Amino acid sequence: MKEAKSKLVCLDCKKEYSPEEKTRFRCDCGELLEVISDFESFNRSPENWKKEFDSKKDEIAFLRYKDLLLPDLPEDKIVTLFEGDTPLFKANHSLSEKFGIKDFSIKHEGMNPTLSFKDRGMVAGVSWANHLGVDFVACASTGDTSAAMAAFAAQCPSLNSIVLLPEGKISFEQLSQPISSGAITIGLQTDFDGAMKLVQELTKKHPIYLLNSMNSIRIEGQKAIGIELLHQMNWKIPDWIIVPVGNAGNVSAIGKGIRELHDLGIIEKLPKLAGVESEKANPLYISYKNDWAELKPKKAENTIASAIQIGNPVSFKKAVRELKHFNGVMEQVSDKEIMDAKALVDATGIPVCPNSGVALAGAKKLRENGKIKEDESVVVIATAHGNKFSQSIIDYHKGENTYSNKPKSVKADLLEIENALGLNQ
Ligand code: F0G
Repeated sequence: MKEAKSKLVCLDCKKEYSPEEKTRFRCDCGELLEVISDFESFNRSPENWKKEFDSKKDEIAFLRYKDLLLPDLPEDKIVTLFEGDTPLFKANHSLSEKFGIKDFSIKHEGMNPTLSFKDRGMVAGVSWANHLGVDFVACASTGDTSAAMAAFAAQCPSLNSIVLLPEGKISFEQLSQPISSGAITIGLQTDFDGAMKLVQELTKKHPIYLLNSMNSIRIEGQKAIGIELLHQMNWKIPDWIIVPVGNAGNVSAIGKGIRELHDLGIIEKLPKLAGVESEKANPLYISYKNDWAELKPKKAENTIASAIQIGNPVSFKKAVRELKHFNGVMEQVSDKEIMDAKALVDATGIPVCPNSGVALAGAKKLRENGKIKEDESVVVIATAHGNKFSQSIIDYHKGENTYSNKPKSVKADLLEIENALGLNQ
């Protein structure tokens, strides 16, 4: 057997484990694990790494960057829905002006097959589950993780998925996804943090493979978001990358991926990283404001950004480490700011979800309060597609809001239509 390039290492006591262990998600000391891979063993110069990526332009993104993600995964175990290669939209002049950011782009992870960035983690997580030969995978979810896990698992006839959801707290579209993919779907009368606690107990007690982002294999898959972004930008580093934060896995993953690129000399400069939370669910923001103080879990209140309504983020420690490394900041935004920012972007034909709206509103706020300077370039990571949250769109536009585009209702009559269009004045 080839020697493994990756191991799982405890964030705290540095104890090492093999990623081949099927039920290992935390260290014996209770702390999170992370994947540490020996990239030096590839013996590639920075230029050769870049050439390697370029030579795989026609492969799926996961395979293109696989040596930096899961080098030990046998290629025939990959379960893909052709995720990745998501568009990088450059904001038009008018949108840039509204955000006060001249060089403003949006990397749209909602253009993935299950309409969120979770597909990046699941190509890694479900492929690894396939490699391990497990029978059951499970997750707790605010909607998008479960949609992605169920769809990828549905590609493997031998794999069954179990989904624990906070009942009534996810969108209809999100709920429809695991059901249609054949997952065992269980609603719980609790919030995400409650469901997360129970899925950890469940997967500890039974031989079920956990696919929340506390499984560090998933984090490796999500690193591709940042790596692909910089590759798309021809390795020109933006000044800021802005990410919405919930359970804090994604900001950790994007940070880890870019940090490793930097360590290997593939990029020479680091961007600054900003995490943004809803002010109704803001434990990282509070920690940041208190000089990155210890996590104080809180009960997340209802927010329009339902996918990040999380008060006890599992990957808190990883996120703080990355944010500090990238000279990063946290910001928080209100529901009104979220929906207004989302509406501005939606109106340019780029449909983003309210959780993406959190990062967009955060970008606007960070520019307004001067953290982002006038001539700095900004990339916002949009994490899911707007159509996963259509009720929020209808409610916003039917209501009296800053950018409402109220639908009209008239009799089925030409004159009435002409009147509605102002053509008879
Ligand atoms: N944006 C969307 C659309 C999400 O679904 C999530 C998380 C996030 C942002 C935040 O990412 O948790 O890694 O900080 N959704 C999880 C889920 C919790 O269950 O789908 P994070």
